[in-house]
Amino acid sequence: VEWILARWLGYAALAVLVGAALTGTVLVPRLARRGPADDTLPHDTARLALGAALALIPASVLRLVDQLSALQSPGDAPWTGLDALLRHTTWGAGFVAQAALHLVATLAAWRLVRAGGSRVAWGTLVAASLALCATPSLQGHAIAAEGREWRAVASDVAHVVGASAWLGTLVAIGWLTLAVRGDGVRAGDATFEAERARRDARLRALTALVPPVALGGAALLVAAGVASSLVHLTAVADLWTSEWGRYLAVKSALAAVVLALGARNWRVTVPRALAGAPVQPLRRTLAIELAVAALVLLVTAILVVTPPPGE
Ligand code: HEM
Repeated sequence: VEWILARWLGYAALAVLVGAALTGTVLVPRLARRGPADDTLPHDTARLALGAALALIPASVLRLVDQLSALQSPGDAPWTGLDALLRHTTWGAGFVAQAALHLVATLAAWRLVRAGGSRVAWGTLVAASLALCATPSLQGHAIAAEGREWRAVASDVAHVVGASAWLGTLVAIGWLTLAVRGDGVRAGDATFEAERARRDARLRALTALVPPVALGGAALLVAAGVASSLVHLTAVADLWTSEWGRYLAVKSALAAVVLALGARNWRVTVPRALAGAPVQPLRRTLAIELAVAALVLLVTAILVVTPPPGE
């Protein structure tokens, strides 16, 4: 179970990292050009990126331990086989690339939190986090799909980029609308009301900018998800006769729920909130959408360790 949770945490942290990086480089500057300054927004976004980068550390360490223990015999020292794993396997190459990109992303996020925003640091963060989306494909079924590995890797990378851009940006918005400080203030007093008004204004302003990122990410995710499925499925019946296929079917059904919730938010809840309705329903539907997405990632973490049909 802990290995599945490690994968889940890795996917979730990567999505949040990408979402924070895209929010900091695309949404926040656009917002700054549009209206009154929200001075703490870049810093809050950088804090989220740093938190996600730090959360990736235990996920990566656990995955390394998992991979290593699968290659060891009982009684081996904990580091037996580490050198061979890292230097002579594709999994190891993926891990080393991931560690290097992870370090760059962490340093960029650290710099943004400590020393304030700079174009170079934001650019580095977004480049490193998008490049990180390529590394899972080197550590799973995509690279092992004999004869079709490059097709599988390309669709896998696109799938992870799309998923991370879409869901990560939504997490970033959720976080940023909670990150407005309300220290020491109580419901009913004037400061509390002012803070709440600022938070709601942030939610409305950011949400208005999200549709192109979310729609682009969701479209990429679905197209690439279908392409990856076609690489691994040998027949339609695999969807119910093989274990991998059944997990994929469950995952697709849950993903359809997330997509439907996202579509409803986009068409109904967001326009209502932008027209001046209370933001509470928007906050609620965003939370539900993200909760079901977290479930999709959990099923994904099981899917990627289940042998695909034909193997
Ligand atoms: C909310 C929606 C979704 C999210 C967040 C999501 C996320 C992910 C992630 C993070 C991976 C792991 C990539 C890796 O480790 O290499 C993955 C793999 C995959 N996804 Fe999705 N996905 C979603 C929807 C879909 C849909 C709709 C389909 C199919 C139509 C799909 C098909 C696949 C396939 C076939 C794989 C490869 C599994 C394997 O390597 O065994 N996904 N997905």
